[in-house]
Amino acid sequence: MKSYFIKTYGCQMNIHESEKIAGILRDLGYKEADSDQNADLIVFNTCCIRETAEAKISGHIGEVSRLKQKNPNLIVAVCGCMSQQKGVAEQLKKRFPFINIILGTSNLQLLAEELARQTQKHSLIDTAEYNTVTEMNSYRTSGANAWVNIIYGCNNFCTYCIVPYVRGRERSRKEKDIVAEVSYLLENGYKEITLLGQNVNSYGKDLDDGSSFSKLLEKLATLPYKYRLRFLTSHPKDFTEDIIDVVAKYDNICKSIHLPVQSGSTAVLRNMNRRYTREYYLDLVNKIRAKIPDAGLSSDIMVGFPGETDENFADTLDLVKQVRYSSCFCFIYSRRKGTPGYAMENQIPKTVKTERIKQLIAAQNVITREISKQFEGKTVEILVDGLNDKYSDVYCGRTDCGKLVNFKCDKDCTGEFVNVKINRSQSATLFGEIVKK
Ligand code: SAH
Ligand code: SF4
Ligand code: F3S
Repeated sequence: MKSYFIKTYGCQMNIHESEKIAGILRDLGYKEADSDQNADLIVFNTCCIRETAEAKISGHIGEVSRLKQKNPNLIVAVCGCMSQQKGVAEQLKKRFPFINIILGTSNLQLLAEELARQTQKHSLIDTAEYNTVTEMNSYRTSGANAWVNIIYGCNNFCTYCIVPYVRGRERSRKEKDIVAEVSYLLENGYKEITLLGQNVNSYGKDLDDGSSFSKLLEKLATLPYKYRLRFLTSHPKDFTEDIIDVVAKYDNICKSIHLPVQSGSTAVLRNMNRRYTREYYLDLVNKIRAKIPDAGLSSDIMVGFPGETDENFADTLDLVKQVRYSSCFCFIYSRRKGTPGYAMENQIPKTVKTERIKQLIAAQNVITREISKQFEGKTVEILVDGLNDKYSDVYCGRTDCGKLVNFKCDKDCTGEFVNVKINRSQSATLFGEIVKK
């Protein structure tokens, strides 16, 4: 029996795509290898959101040449966002001549055909066309949680971002197909569903059948199962009041909202083509908090976008202090070829970017700690993800609002809902003990 090893980089979308790749491979009779050393097939499912991601992946692909020398029959496949970029397939082929198969995000379903050829020559497929999406059989590895795509692609063209170029335009799945998939997963014991899209809030706009994200949420929230519903990612410009109302109305829709702001300066937001202002965003946060007082908000923020002044950055710091996110992913702007940001004047020097990100992370850390501290003494319901990697009797799971909780349990409680009393907190993580319901 042949075996595969998949290396996944990037966002949740890619993690789920790797589950689909595993599904294809298992249908072909492959089994999962415990390491790349023992695999007959290594798949790199790549990301190109920042230069650092691409550099890391290239390094890892380079290391495989050693394995290929030992085992000339080893098949190496590269797919995902990095190889979907214009001209990158050819560059990869030149730099790493041992790669057997290069696919993009748009033609992943050809993996089976390509493997069937098993050619030692390159099979390079034209990655320009986006096929209509077909859902593939996933081999899920995410414990109690199952990822479900609701919309593919992105229409927003934020000026820093490569995603619209490598994932194509927005394509929503039909509501009935999503409801069928979610029902099937719940029937099979999953306790949490996370809906995925680059901008889930614009779900249905391309369908012309009256579908919308809030209607979809309502339909899923009323399915007759005890489970949690989450979604990623929301674009502030499309987070309309009907969505706030549905999240507020249903207990099983998690009160954890990832609402990337990117910058706290209206001038920078305009240059980023985010299509909202600082005031609009703060107003949206107030509306959400008015209707969902215990909402846990999180964000993505970038420093050093071209033209960002000290004053603009001060606006970002100030916004972070006003909003008080429970957690925040902070990034240094990375120039991506093919995006409008690449050609912009006033690129910010590296030293300035590094100093700004340090300040931003420090400011957020204080807030993260303060928010965690507020949980001490409280009892919260946790959906258990599984064992904490580091210990044999410590389990971890998340609160409704997305906080990570560690606690001891003497039996396997993975996938169960348990009540945990929080005793202490350490930066973003909470520690507690199980109490009776
Ligand atoms: N669709 C999501 C996020 C996609 S990428 C959204 O719109 O929010 C995840 C995050 O990576 C973005 O929110 C952004 O903060 C960051 N990112 C995207 N392009 C980047 C770039 N060129 N440099 C640095 N960070 C970037
Ligand atoms: Fe990128 Fe903007 Fe689309 Fe998000 S909304 S994927 S940041 S272009
Ligand atoms: Fe995700 Fe990276 Fe692609 S963040 S959409 S895997 S470029």
